[in-house]
Amino acid sequence: MSEFRVKAISKLHAEFSVPGDKSMSHRAAILGGLSNGVCTIENFLPSEDCVNTLNAMQALGARHEVLDELPGYGPVNLRIHGQSMRLTAATAPIDCGNAGTGMRLLAGLLAGQDFSSELFGDASLSSRPMGRITDPLGLMGANIETRGEKPGCAPLFIHAAKLHPITYDMPVASAQVKSAILLAGLFTHGKTTVNQPAETRDHTERMLASFQVNTRREGNVISIYGGQTPESCDFTVPGDISSAAFWLVAAAALPGSRLLLKNVGLNPTRTAILKVLSRMGAHMTEIIHKSDGEPIGNIEIHGAKLTGTVITIDEIPNLIDEIPVIAVAAALATGKTIIRNATELRVKETDRITTTVNGLRAMGAEVDEFEDGMEITGGKALHAAVIDSFGDHRIAMAFAIAGLFAEGETVIKNTDCVNTSYPGFAHHLDAIRHQRSLAADFTLPTVSIA
Ligand code: S3P
Repeated sequence: MSEFRVKAISKLHAEFSVPGDKSMSHRAAILGGLSNGVCTIENFLPSEDCVNTLNAMQALGARHEVLDELPGYGPVNLRIHGQSMRLTAATAPIDCGNAGTGMRLLAGLLAGQDFSSELFGDASLSSRPMGRITDPLGLMGANIETRGEKPGCAPLFIHAAKLHPITYDMPVASAQVKSAILLAGLFTHGKTTVNQPAETRDHTERMLASFQVNTRREGNVISIYGGQTPESCDFTVPGDISSAAFWLVAAAALPGSRLLLKNVGLNPTRTAILKVLSRMGAHMTEIIHKSDGEPIGNIEIHGAKLTGTVITIDEIPNLIDEIPVIAVAAALATGKTIIRNATELRVKETDRITTTVNGLRAMGAEVDEFEDGMEITGGKALHAAVIDSFGDHRIAMAFAIAGLFAEGETVIKNTDCVNTSYPGFAHHLDAIRHQRSLAADFTLPTVSIA
């Protein structure tokens, strides 16, 4: 089992790109496979999560060819041969690995097929709630059994079914649930509508539009008509702002630092982290150089002495994946940071409220835990500790960043999991720790240290 050993840094001056967006890579694999022709996908995230979705689509008949790959990880540039909405039964159960997004979106896709499928995942995924998708899909006529040891959990047995459209008020603000219903809606006759309790990331709607599939949005209500076939198209995946977040926090909290992250996805449903870090005192500029479809741009950030902040309720879905590293920023800031209304964190890859609170406390931070979040009183010096990620990629990476500010050598245990969202993280961490450039493999995003 691998580990990170991290010591404090005194300087961070760097320019680089982070790998492709995880949410968009899952969706590109699915929509490319449903489309009516050949799609070239560039900067696909070669992570275990996304490769599992790509392989799932291949098992369902949508073949792909790898054009370039990140050796040891997976495809970066690829060509998908769409099946014009006609998938075929997989010959074996489909492995979704650690990916909630993969499993929930594929369940929506497979619920209305004329064949049965089985989806399974690792221990973490098998303990995450699937009722949030099997309930609405069931209302559409799907026949899905959850056969996990824990009630309502994977493996999922999805029987052949004919679906009908519904109008559904989502009880949780979840882009995965919304997307599962929209994908299932494509296989119905008529109009399927989802009403979100708060705005969630809109990559599915934007990518459907790139594939010429119409959805309609009125406020937080999204509708789709079934029977549309995605038109094949080429898609370039921007860098993942959730991966960028680790370095943004490192730079923000280190006075005198300067970081330029290039070609990051700047979709407004994902950029609350930038607002939060600005509110905490970091100096930041965003330059958007592509604004149609998915906005892409560069982020330049200069570190400062940070101060605590209150994360508002409507910001939570927009920065849900960044909360562990925002909590690290909060521990490094002076004053209180309040993160509430975030109960969803308890059903991520780990219970991210408890794993974050325990890790920060182990490093000397003052943190109060609540059922729906945490309150951090920052400013106490952090010291090294041994932190177990419990197999959660974002916990491993958030505490690697904390280690860059701690007295002594912080050891993060169980770090193979970072490959589920950020292949190459260890190389970037190494380059930043040692202030040196990496002679990167051809597709590994290069770090250049100024
Ligand atoms: C995702 C949605 C979010 C997020 C996850 C990716 C997506 O989950 O936490 O990492 O790609 O749709 P929820 O839909 O459970 O909020």
